[in-house]
Amino acid sequence: MDIRIEAAQREDFIEMIKLADLSMPDRMNLHELKKYFELFPDLLFKAVHNDRLIGFCCAGIDMYQTTGWLLFSNVVDEYRGRGIGKSLIQVRLQALRQFRAIQQVLVTVNATNTASIRALQAAGFEWARTETEYYGPGKDRAIMRLSMVPAASRMILKLPDGAAVGH
Ligand SMILES: CC(C)(COP(=O)(O)OP(=O)(O)OC[C@H]1O[C@@H](n2cnc3c(N)ncnc32)[C@H](O)[C@@H]1OP(=O)(O)O)[C@@H](O)C(=O)NCCC(=O)NCCS
Repeated sequence: MDIRIEAAQREDFIEMIKLADLSMPDRMNLHELKKYFELFPDLLFKAVHNDRLIGFCCAGIDMYQTTGWLLFSNVVDEYRGRGIGKSLIQVRLQALRQFRAIQQVLVTVNATNTASIRALQAAGFEWARTETEYYGPGKDRAIMRLSMVPAASRMILKLPDGAAVGH
């Protein structure tokens, strides 16, 4: 099956919002998606099969450009379980890596969303923290994290006493 992952365009907006309304109307709405197009135009992607939009995803980055966020992803019901969700994660990570200062990518996860969690774990994400009552009384949010700092540069140098680094 020839499924293409490519940059989403503003003209895709109507199809995207229709798809989001089908599966997660409480999570994504017209105003939010419009904002993403304005703020992060290079971080929105779509999955296409036979010219039909069968999935899309959004990412964002904080104003210091050190933390990226996976903001939303969605695959048409009958196309799920074929690896498209994973591809939508990878294309966003690839786009976020273009920001040289980026150190980590975070994502808010619903602890009951097995497909989403499995796809994120496959990409290397790990549980990071729970923010208690983030959404109000009794409504916590869980966050998964992927470090974007190469393991080699995370090494801590142990210097002999009195040694100095630099010139
Ligand atoms: C989350 C979502 C985008 C995943 O898309 P997908 O194309 O089905 O994902 P993939 O095919 O890449 O599968 C990812 C993993 O989930 C597993 N999976 C897929 N559907 C599953 C299901 N219904 N139940 C349990 N696991 C499932 C796959 O087996 C795979 O895990 P594995 O590699 O360990 O086998 C899709 O399920 C979806 O659109 N859900 C509704 C919207 C949503 O929840 N979005 C995420 C939060 S914004």
